[in-house]
Amino acid sequence: MATEHILELTGLSKSFGGNRVITALDLAISRGGVTSLVGPNGAGKTTLFDLVTGFLTPDAGRVRLLGRDITGKPPHLVARAGIVRTFQSLRLFSSLTVLENVLLAADSEAGMRSSSERHESARVAMERAGVAGLADVRAADLSFAEQKFVSLARAIAKPAGLMLLDEPASGLDGPSLRRFHAIVRALVDEGRTVLLIEHNLDIVRQISDRVAFLNNGRLLAHGTPDEIFAMEELAALYFGDDAAT
Ligand SMILES: Nc1ncnc2c1ncn2[C@@H]1O[C@H](COP(=O)(O)OP(=O)(O)OP(=O)(O)O)[C@@H](O)[C@H]1O
Ligand SMILES: [Mg+2]
Repeated sequence: MATEHILELTGLSKSFGGNRVITALDLAISRGGVTSLVGPNGAGKTTLFDLVTGFLTPDAGRVRLLGRDITGKPPHLVARAGIVRTFQSLRLFSSLTVLENVLLAADSEAGMRSSSERHESARVAMERAGVAGLADVRAADLSFAEQKFVSLARAIAKPAGLMLLDEPASGLDGPSLRRFHAIVRALVDEGRTVLLIEHNLDIVRQISDRVAFLNNGRLLAHGTPDEIFAMEELAALYFGDDAAT
């Protein structure tokens, strides 16, 4: 079977108690580029990341990475298979330095990496994320924006082809957003595939090659930013009654 899709989700479903959070979701992500996952609060975006990365097990459906079925595999095996994720809550180790935080990320699940390989990926990742100058600063002493970029550096440090980023740009100001945009495009240029959860639709429009729109656990549309943003019902769903003004 052809594997032009890096990630393929078929019939994915998940309920919590009686609450259906993801319903029969089909989504195929091509290799390379940025796909943004948008949708209102509670749409199921983070749950979808949890299902892909093994933090949750789907009730039904399959998750395939480059054609290989990884459904139900635990997070460390999913990571080893080539998927890295960031979390909405940044999960840095506050008493450790930036370098130590990034080194730990370079370390875990990566298999047989030597110490010098880990240091090299940590160094490169900090450079890419623009936090090399903060290497010896304790995470607790970082600004909010710096924490976001260190979290990104931790993801970059892992040798994963598919990056799932959960609201990495939320709360960033204009200059930081431009920096974020440049970092993500550079990751794509080096051959990574990025799946991005983002609420700021200006960023989504600028950064995305494809946009997937989720509402109530169902995929409403998947297409180019122009296609998705042309759909009035999506704006109405996303912005509620204030839409299209
Ligand atoms: N572990 C859980 N147990 C029970 N319900 C959950 C659990 N995780 C998520 N939910 C519910 O699933 C729904 C989807 O949540 P999810 O966090 O995936 O939304 P989201 O699209 O990421 O929203 P946001 O944009 O606010 O981050 C919500 O109604 C949430 O309350
Ligand atoms: Mg979420």
